[in-house]
Amino acid sequence: MLKENFLWGGALAANQCEGAYNEDGKGLSIMDIITAGDKDHPRQMTMDIKEDCYYPNHEAIDFYHRYEEDTDLFAQMGFKCLRVSIAWSRIFPHGDEEEPNQKGLAFYDRLFETLHQKGIEPVVTISHYEMPLELVKKYGGWRNRKLIDFYVHYAKTLFERYQGVVKYWMTFNEINSTIHIPAIAGVIIKADEDEKSIAYQALHHQFVASAKAVRLAHSIDSQNQVGCMVMTTVGYPQTPHPLDVAAAQNYLRDGTLFFCDVHVRGHYPAYFKSYGVKINVTKEDQEILSQGCVDYIGFSYYSSQVVSRNNNGEETQGNIVKGLKNPYLKASEWGWQIDPQGLSFLMKELYERYEKPLFIVENGLGYDDQLTEDGCIHDDYRIDYLRQHLDMMKKTVEAEHIDLMGYTAWGPIDIVSAGTGEMKKRYGFIYVDKDNQGNGTLKRIKKDSYYWYQKVIATNGEDL
Ligand code: BG6
Repeated sequence: MLKENFLWGGALAANQCEGAYNEDGKGLSIMDIITAGDKDHPRQMTMDIKEDCYYPNHEAIDFYHRYEEDTDLFAQMGFKCLRVSIAWSRIFPHGDEEEPNQKGLAFYDRLFETLHQKGIEPVVTISHYEMPLELVKKYGGWRNRKLIDFYVHYAKTLFERYQGVVKYWMTFNEINSTIHIPAIAGVIIKADEDEKSIAYQALHHQFVASAKAVRLAHSIDSQNQVGCMVMTTVGYPQTPHPLDVAAAQNYLRDGTLFFCDVHVRGHYPAYFKSYGVKINVTKEDQEILSQGCVDYIGFSYYSSQVVSRNNNGEETQGNIVKGLKNPYLKASEWGWQIDPQGLSFLMKELYERYEKPLFIVENGLGYDDQLTEDGCIHDDYRIDYLRQHLDMMKKTVEAEHIDLMGYTAWGPIDIVSAGTGEMKKRYGFIYVDKDNQGNGTLKRIKKDSYYWYQKVIATNGEDL
């Protein structure tokens, strides 16, 4: 049985749903200058808004103006919580101002009040891939230590404003993405630079900023619970060859566990020295890290990979991290392999290692849903995906006595895909009438999975 107050819900990111990219004093964020792509054409970062480019996040699904309707639909589904992020550039348009933009704060005042009125607990990511663009242009993004102060000032503004309103926080979405795509952290690498060291330095600044934020959140309100958010994936050894097994062990440690190690244990693990990166970690940083350990581990899980000692095999896609194909698994149209067992593997690994509450804050299936003639979307494939993962989640909680705080399905309403910028990579229980080119009425339509998830929540996961 899942606990009585299990946090069932969905997860969104401001840049992928809000739109209103230049309204009420909002500054540009890095996601506002990223074009649309698809699975064969990567998105481009144009640094400024170019007339001849299409930027899907500018309007997204217009959640900024439609949050009342959308949160009504979530409430009817029985959501106990909604994970949202705050767009940093709504609050500090350039990122380095002293005073926050009151109109930006006013939007989140309204959103959180609306959620509470509907019995939905807000779960807030402070930074989800949407830093103010000026911080990139002026300071070089997270490669610059100054970002720590800007972030902490921003976080403090939120903790003070939302004291007693927001209790669950996460500091950085998928903090490990910085290592794979430094541009997500506003770090543009020049041709002659040591990318690895710069990326780990940028990551280090985020670790310090996160630890400072955790401490601050606790001092402002002892009820605050602050988690990390780590992207997780399993890498199975391709064969029983000892070197394949060793490669898989390192894949898990270096790709997932390392990030939790620093957040949860409050220091760099000894094995970090084997990475061979040159970064500046001061004595004071070390102290801050040790005093800012997170309260829980938030993580995303979508798919698993195969790992081999010589990288021999057919490549497949995944959530930012690539790997090799697994002949035993099916994959989505975007090549993400479907593997509920991997979720169980990770839950066990994380709980055994840290003994901290876990929170599954992203999981779901991206699918090109089709509206049928009856005006519905029969997404039994999505129900299957979620059913299998939730079944595995529940069994693992029961068998291992894991303290699992909740489950928020990614994109409970269709939103812009982070990876490809497409609308047609849909995750929602609610369909949004909009296509990859930006055409559509933005009308919301309940899919079959809507009613299924409603039943799952009503029975606290007993009726899957
Ligand atoms: C995670 C992100 O990487 O995966 C989300 O936190 C993202 O922002 C989600 O949307 C799914 O990825 P995609 O590329 O299918 O949107």
